[in-house]
Amino acid sequence: MAPKLQAPRGTYDMLPEQAAARLALETVARRVLEGAGYERIETPVFEATELFSRGVGASTDIVQKEMFTFSDRGERSLTLRPEGTAPICRAYVEHGMHMLPLPVKRWYSGPFFRDERAQAGRFKQFSQIGAEAIGTDDPAVDAECITLLWTILVELGVGGIELRLGSLGTPATRAGYRAELTAYLRAHEERLSPEVAARIDLNPLRAFDADHPGTREVMAGAPILMDALAPEDLQHFEEVRARLDAAGVSYRLDPTLVRGLDYYSRTLFEFTSDVLGAQSAVGGGGRYDGLVEQLGGPHTPACGWAAGIERILLSAEPRPLPREPCDLYVAGTGVPAFALAAEARRAELNVQLELAGRSRKGQRKQAARLGADFVALVEDDGSIVLEDVVNGDSESVPGASAAVAHILKGRHL
Ligand code: HAM
Repeated sequence: MAPKLQAPRGTYDMLPEQAAARLALETVARRVLEGAGYERIETPVFEATELFSRGVGASTDIVQKEMFTFSDRGERSLTLRPEGTAPICRAYVEHGMHMLPLPVKRWYSGPFFRDERAQAGRFKQFSQIGAEAIGTDDPAVDAECITLLWTILVELGVGGIELRLGSLGTPATRAGYRAELTAYLRAHEERLSPEVAARIDLNPLRAFDADHPGTREVMAGAPILMDALAPEDLQHFEEVRARLDAAGVSYRLDPTLVRGLDYYSRTLFEFTSDVLGAQSAVGGGGRYDGLVEQLGGPHTPACGWAAGIERILLSAEPRPLPREPCDLYVAGTGVPAFALAAEARRAELNVQLELAGRSRKGQRKQAARLGADFVALVEDDGSIVLEDVVNGDSESVPGASAAVAHILKGRHL
């Protein structure tokens, strides 16, 4: 026997058992987002590598370590998309969407790729739903974005949700703050853990996440970015918060919230679920006022989020949609049986045809398994006996059209 092959580590097959829950998730997301005026967009699964190195940030883990990058035959460097925001901003610029009524609101659902170490809830190919509102810095957009994701997660029954909220201010504020924090850490270096001390210049913010007791004591007195915000950024943040309060969305202020993408400014947020283990982030996002401009477009403030479909499904009670009903099961394997199935499908009935050469008894069993409402016993001479499974009636009908008419009548009773 030839050796068996397996799906690559960090990937999985979506089997029919999972398909129903996923469809239910997408149905809820679509209803909530399209109800709020978001329209669907899909960008390619691969893009020019430069889009991500410029958009996501050359120093991020995603760009430094996690991208699946390859060359095409013309030696152009391409990358499987690790996220969706930079591609949508690329599309916004490419299609001149700034001419559309603002904000341009788009949602998406599809596969993304990051070469991370696979573990529970972390995959190399995963799926996101996401939403982006491009073209305004109105704080109502931030609050609406967050509220929409919260609505979707609640409606899907995601357990133990917590929303963490922060504000990053502008890049200039951040640079000033970073210098201040670095100086503070240097001044207390001898009390920090060796790992934190070694990374003071590289990533001073990480010190807030340390478990080391000495580091924690030092960090309790550390300067906080939110205290350094410019008055207009603080005002913006307060307006976002007032709207979240008005919508009844509860959150925890987290002045040390960091996310692994460089494009954020002002509002930043993340939803976690305590049902998930180490990979507890279900979704997150924020404002990215500089990204469109960075990708060659006009100055365009924007805000959005993405949520991991696998993680939502892991943390929600599965509520699959009911399976498509089977209106008619055509028992019989000859040409007349096939013709009846074709005619019934033209009438938009859900039809399943006997395809495995079962005996009459086996065919009946199969019809019952599928929950068919009607069974048509079709002989090779074209004669048809139609059985109404629900009330047990059975009658001979003069041809395919009569059978279909009968079913349509029965269905509409
Ligand atoms: P992100 O936080 O990198 O944000 O990803 C969003 C969500 O995707 C995460 O919260 C997580 O649920 C899921 N996710 C990320 N990586 C993996 C993985 N390796 N395996 C399974 N799930 C994963 C973004 O991607 C931004 N584009 C969000 C955004 C949109 N910001 C503004 N607009």
